[in-house]
Amino acid sequence: MTLHAILRLVHITGFAAWFGTIFASMFLIKTLEPGMTDTEDKAKEYKVLLMRFIGLETKVADVAVVSVVLSGLLLTHFYHGWSIWAIMKIVLLVVQVALTMGYIVRKIQPITYPCDTTRFASWYRLFAISLTMFSLVLAVTFFLL
Ligand code: HEM
Repeated sequence: MTLHAILRLVHITGFAAWFGTIFASMFLIKTLEPGMTDTEDKAKEYKVLLMRFIGLETKVADVAVVSVVLSGLLLTHFYHGWSIWAIMKIVLLVVQVALTMGYIVRKIQPITYPCDTTRFASWYRLFAISLTMFSLVLAVTFFLL
């Protein structure tokens, strides 16, 4: 097995793990929505489940993002070269992290539960931002890189 194959394996597995955590979160949020927009007691109980899930999910997502970035930089340096599209991937990744973190701090963290469904919809906007950025990076990867 060559270093190139190992780096691609890490890069693609890291991407898949990260992408998977987004979908898992989206399904969990959809599942918890009725409880988190219901009574005080129910919302409290569901919030504990949500926080527990986020704790586990963040560990996987953090390792996955670091693996994608490190393997991506090494692939670019040793095999692909610093093309405009490789640099564009780095820029998009930085924008994605900044946009999602900024949205979480400004719109998601201030929510108190139970909340109404309009407020809860902020979660879906967060996933929309994240998936749009993933689509852009994947489009660059498969059609331009
Ligand atoms: C620091 C940011 C990144 C850099 C510098 C980077 C760089 C690269 C390079 C150079 C390749 C080609 C590897 C080769 O075949 O030799 C590649 C492949 C790939 N990248 Fe990235 N990447 C980055 C982030 C990402 C992100 C965030 C995603 C996911 C959204 C991603 C998804 C992929 C996929 C799926 C492939 C495989 C394409 C194929 O098999 O043809 N990359 N990346």
